[in-house]
Amino acid sequence: MVRWLELNRALPAGQAFFERELAGLAGAGKRRVLISGGADTGVTALVAAAYRLAGVEPEIVFVDQCASTIAQNSLFAAHLGLKIECIQTDIRKLDCPAVDAIVAHSFLLFFEGQMRQQVIAAWARNLRPNGVLLMSNSLAQDEGDWISIKNQEEILRRKNTLELAAKNAGFESSAAIEIAETAARFWQSSPSRPPAITAANLRTSLEQAGFCVQSILSANVAPVSGPMAMVRASTTTRARAEIIACKAGERSALLAAHCGAAPRPGLTNA
Ligand SMILES: C[S@@+](CC[C@H](N)C(=O)[O-])C[C@H]1O[C@@H](n2cnc3c(N)ncnc32)[C@H](O)[C@@H]1O
Repeated sequence: MVRWLELNRALPAGQAFFERELAGLAGAGKRRVLISGGADTGVTALVAAAYRLAGVEPEIVFVDQCASTIAQNSLFAAHLGLKIECIQTDIRKLDCPAVDAIVAHSFLLFFEGQMRQQVIAAWARNLRPNGVLLMSNSLAQDEGDWISIKNQEEILRRKNTLELAAKNAGFESSAAIEIAETAARFWQSSPSRPPAITAANLRTSLEQAGFCVQSILSANVAPVSGPMAMVRASTTTRARAEIIACKAGERSALLAAHCGAAPRPGLTNA
């Protein structure tokens, strides 16, 4: 909702990355994609668009623990005629027929260390051998950098702007106020959990679960933005990373081709 109202219905960050990587998978006949903690319809739209641009219909497994998100994505998928299975569950409990790829967008940061490892283990369990994990996430320089003092003036300014946007979008005044107050309460808290995700601890966690990390691109340090993000008193920019990891398979040829390959143009291994 916040993305819809504030960011002019924008797709999530990393659109070019997901489009490129998912088009490659589509071309290789890998159509079955798990969206892990997709939230609103942004990530579903991104995955559907990437496959359809490549001329392939995806088979999406959408997993989220929130009922309203499941309902929202089911309606959206029906509207687009997408083949989708929406499963309301804790991702750590998921056991579904294996998928070719997993898309996780700003998701891992919600889990503290041990739970985070359980999420990654669930991904590995539900991914085919040689399947691919694609992630977009902000990365910290330091594991201790997960809690922040919020900028109160910025929260108030943003709350008022969101309320106005909701009214302009046709919400009744009481609903617009509720949306803005709910978002402001959310911005006050810190959704991220310790330790903060760094390139180093992410690589270790993925490898521990049997993934081979192909690349962690964290080149673009950008202003803090997005529906969840709130400028801190001290930080106004952060690095956003695009991560590719493969699950080791019994036949390692494809894996070797993926993981042994030189980084693609524009990517830096971190
Ligand atoms: C902030 S959203 C993720 C953002 C979204 N992927 C995006 O970038 O647009 C977090 C989502 O994860 C879901 N979630 C949190 N913990 C979960 C869990 N253990 N299992 C499944 N979904 C979970 C929440 O319900 C919420 O929809």
